[in-house]
Formats: sequence, structure tokens, C-alpha cells
Amino acid sequence: MSDESRPSPPQERAGTRTAVVIPAAGRGVRLGPGAPKALRALNGTPMLIHAVRAMAASRSVSLVVVVAPPEGAAEVKSLLDVHALPERTDFLVVPGGESRQESVRLGLDALPPDHDIVLVHDAARPLVPVDTVDAVIEAVRDGAPAVVPALPLADTVKEVEPAEVPGTPEPVVATPSRARLRAVQTPQGFDRATLVRAHETVTEDVTDDASMVERLGLTVVVVPGHEEAFKVTRPLDLVLAEAVLARRRLNDGF
Ligand code: C5P
Repeated sequence: MSDESRPSPPQERAGTRTAVVIPAAGRGVRLGPGAPKALRALNGTPMLIHAVRAMAASRSVSLVVVVAPPEGAAEVKSLLDVHALPERTDFLVVPGGESRQESVRLGLDALPPDHDIVLVHDAARPLVPVDTVDAVIEAVRDGAPAVVPALPLADTVKEVEPAEVPGTPEPVVATPSRARLRAVQTPQGFDRATLVRAHETVTEDVTDDASMVERLGLTVVVVPGHEEAFKVTRPLDLVLAEAVLARRRLNDGF
């Protein structure tokens, strides 16, 4: 689609500004030894740079805050300086914390006042398509306090009583109906004040930001996610990510 024929992004219609916080301070031990996960290369470019580009691809996004490993903030800054990124987008780098939650909070603390919508996007999801980013922003613009992109599950999910010794059999406790389950991705989108309140209020460990908003008693809505927004967690995911990039290059060539 040409730039002219694209519908104008949500923020241009409403005058709100969108910032993205990218927590990228994890070690990524499940990928095996080596550099912090966000700095691992995919096709020669660090995963984090792919993730930043994926966010900056949305014309609604005017600021990207990268939360870097505390000892790697200078390296991340210079990476952002040397890789081509859109001129319309500003970038900030702040050092991260002990947990993902703390890293996101440090990113939120660094946001200037003039951004009403905040997305939180894992550096570990480098290939999310721009249409997914825009769909999340649009749903926040339409009034949802929190929005998550998600996909139906292919696998049946069992709740178990976790074994104390890994690898030993675990009794099944329940089998939730698969039709009602969704696998949640990022970017997750928020009304900024709601997300800040969630981070001030909720102290339990959580694995995503939307669940903190749920704990405030607010409704979180799901929009369709995308299969290319998968999380790079294990070595096989790196192979899949490079295959997706190869397919994109092939498609772009025709
Ligand atoms: O460990 P997990 O895969 O859930 O991490 C999700 C995201 O949170 C990753 O992008 C990781 O870099 C980030 N993270 C962070 N600070 C931590 C731990 C994880 O920014 N202390």
C-alpha cells in the first residue's frame, strides 16, 4: 500500500502521542550462553534493533524508550546511533532493573509528559508486523485502558501440580477449555495513567503488564495478534526468526 493510500494512523486523527517502552534488560538464559538476548544477532542485526524498527514502523509512535542491561546501556546507545532508524521517532536508553516489571517501571519513569498512550513491547519479539502495532494503538484510542494482541492456541493446555524434581511426572489439576484461551503477545497498549497506576499499585510478580491492569479491576481487551510476533526464547526460535526474515526478503523482491 502506498503512503498516500494508507489510512491515517490513530494518533494523527486524535492529537495524542504514543511512546513505546522496550524492556531489553534480561539475560535470556534459555537461549544458551552468550550476549544478553536482546543483543543476539538475527541476520547480522541485533534482535533489539529489529524490535525498535518494528515499533518505529508505526507512524503513530513518536518515542521509543529502550530499557537496557545496566552494564550495557552505553553499548545499546551506540547501537541505536549506528543503525538506520526513522527520523520522525525519538529514542531514549535507560538502565534496567532486577525483574521485567522493574525494568518497565524504570522505562515509564523516563517518559516525558506529552505521551498519553504507552505500548510495552518485549525486545524478544523482534518481528511483530506494523499492522499489529497499529491495531493495538487504535483500540487504546477507542477507549480501552489496556489492549493485548493474542492468538488462539494450537495446543491443549493442562494445569498441573508442578513437580519438585524437574522431569518427574506431574498430576493434572485441570484442563481449561481451549476455545476460551489466547496466547498473549506484545506490544501491549495502555492508557498511560492506567499503566502508571498499575505499576504503583500491584506488587505481585506478573509475566505481563496487562495482568497488572486486570488486578486494578479494569477490563483488558484482546485484538488479533500475529504469528510473526512470536517470542524468541529458545535456540530453535532463532532459526524460525531468520526464516521469517528470509521469507520477507523474498516477498519484497517480487
Ligand atoms: O524473561 P522474559 O523472556 O519473560 O523477558 C521478557 C522481556 O523482559 C525481555 O525483552 C527481557 O529482556 C526483558 N527483561 C528486562 N529486565 C529484566 C528481565 C527481563 O527488561 N530484569
